[in-house]
Amino acid sequence: MGDEPKGGRQMQVADRLLNTPPYPFAELGMLKRKAIEGGADLIDFGIGDPDQPTPAHIVEALREAARDPVTHQYDETGKGLPEFRKAVASWYARRFGVELDADREVLRLIGAKEGLAHLAWAVLNPGDVALVPDPAYPVYKVASMFAGAEVEFVPLMEDAGYLPDLAAIPKEAVKRARLMYLCYPNMPTGAVAESDFYERLVDFARDTEILICLDMAYSELCYDGYETQSLLQVKGAKDVAIEIHSLSKTYNMTGWRLGFAVGNAQAIDTLEKFKSNVDSGAFLAIQRAGVAALAGPQECVAKMRGIYQKRRDLLVDGLAGIGWQMPKPRATCYVWAPVPQGYTSAEMAETLLREAAVLVTPGSAYGEKGEGYVRFSLTVQGERQEDRIVEAVSRIKEKVRLA
Ligand SMILES: Cc1ncc(COP(=O)(O)O)c(C=O)c1O
Repeated sequence: MGDEPKGGRQMQVADRLLNTPPYPFAELGMLKRKAIEGGADLIDFGIGDPDQPTPAHIVEALREAARDPVTHQYDETGKGLPEFRKAVASWYARRFGVELDADREVLRLIGAKEGLAHLAWAVLNPGDVALVPDPAYPVYKVASMFAGAEVEFVPLMEDAGYLPDLAAIPKEAVKRARLMYLCYPNMPTGAVAESDFYERLVDFARDTEILICLDMAYSELCYDGYETQSLLQVKGAKDVAIEIHSLSKTYNMTGWRLGFAVGNAQAIDTLEKFKSNVDSGAFLAIQRAGVAALAGPQECVAKMRGIYQKRRDLLVDGLAGIGWQMPKPRATCYVWAPVPQGYTSAEMAETLLREAAVLVTPGSAYGEKGEGYVRFSLTVQGERQEDRIVEAVSRIKEKVRLA
């Protein structure tokens, strides 16, 4: 009684939140603000947020749709605007040769992050296990923990092409696992997966009755003629898997919050049921703009691939030229760089920031197995991005010890 703080009782924070470390990019944002306040001319390879505008025809479609008062009301469409779901199904057929039932196998999301997070709540019980890759997008782990599940990390190692060794996952964890998150093209490593792995994955999921959730947020950012595959191209995959897509990176629409889930109808229904209890759909005008994005001209996507490929080459070739070697990713907008000897990930990121005003993300922000790497995002914030990449390489050469 007597030990209540002045001004009344202190608000309780839920244990699930107290036990969660701050979202890694929040910390990065703070370091970035400090450097800028200190007057640094920061070259920002931090967060993966496209620096180019949304293509004009998509903005125009939103403008037009927003003028129609029908779009101002609640989205009471259940799985999403039918035109949007049809556009997703047609895009899937064109892009991957996969047939989807727009009524049963497609669900609109308020961005991929929302769907990835809510899926854990929709399918996991306390005491279940979620298989989560390490390194990975932090949302898989945190959402599984929020749902009360235990997380079993599945290492993604460089010498295995950052593909998980399914046979090496402890049997006890597999027995209790109900959900496995994966991400290809992979953030943060830039690795890709091919059909032989996907075939093994479908067999594994069928044998163990684990739902596979493949995050394909970067499916369209691929280079040197490489085309990403869909897990759903593998026979039987729809029985065991869903795929989560985002319009954020493909069409430079991060702020719009639009994505979709496709695949196993029961999982789609389950996620819809959860969502209908916690959100009220997405702005209908944005879904109409999403139709313009998916069904409209795709030159904008080819253009972005060209831009990122050029930046990738400038960065990776430039760094190789000063003695810092790393592979060229075939996909995603990230370069995953092993840190030179003598540094941890965090030390390398701090050194780059302090000495060269170059902001990267320490690999350790994505999990234990990310230690020993830093991530460069090719979405360089600001203007004259190619010049800034060249400038970053020259600053690193002058100011940072690499060997
Ligand atoms: C691997 C991965 N999945 C999903 C997302 C989130 O995408 P969205 O903007 O659609 O929520 C991101 C964003 O950076 C990501 O890196």
